[in-house]
Amino acid sequence: MIISIACDHGGYELKLEVIEHLNSLGHTVIDNGCEGTASCDYPIYAKSVTDDINEKKADLGILICGTGIGMSMAANKVEGIRAALCHDVFSAKATREHNNANILCMGARVVGPGLALMIVDTFLETPFSNEERHIRRISMYS
Ligand code: RB5
Repeated sequence: MIISIACDHGGYELKLEVIEHLNSLGHTVIDNGCEGTASCDYPIYAKSVTDDINEKKADLGILICGTGIGMSMAANKVEGIRAALCHDVFSAKATREHNNANILCMGARVVGPGLALMIVDTFLETPFSNEERHIRRISMYS
């Protein structure tokens, strides 16, 4: 799978762990920054991943900031994007099955790396259910 990923300064350390994990699983990773822990503006990095999704350069995206909230708000302003803020495995599974989420958002100040990697695995491994009721509901807002 091709995964587009980005973070701000608050998510930088966790992003490195996620990238290492994705590489170890054989995924292709597009790293859209940021490049360190110096303060930066998360909407810039959210846009690079939403562009990759909408231009079909990546299958799924991951955005990490301090809380995950700013990234999810910025990403969800973009047409075609269904970004899900997940801090538990249940939500990561449900949002793929029910919402066909195409971007996972996480807050590095909220979850530790162990749980974050389980959330990533669940998000990537879970297919959309393709059930009519979910297709209908998604079509009502996207
Ligand atoms: C940065 O301090 C912080 O505001 C950002 O990482 C994120 O949590 C915003 O929603």
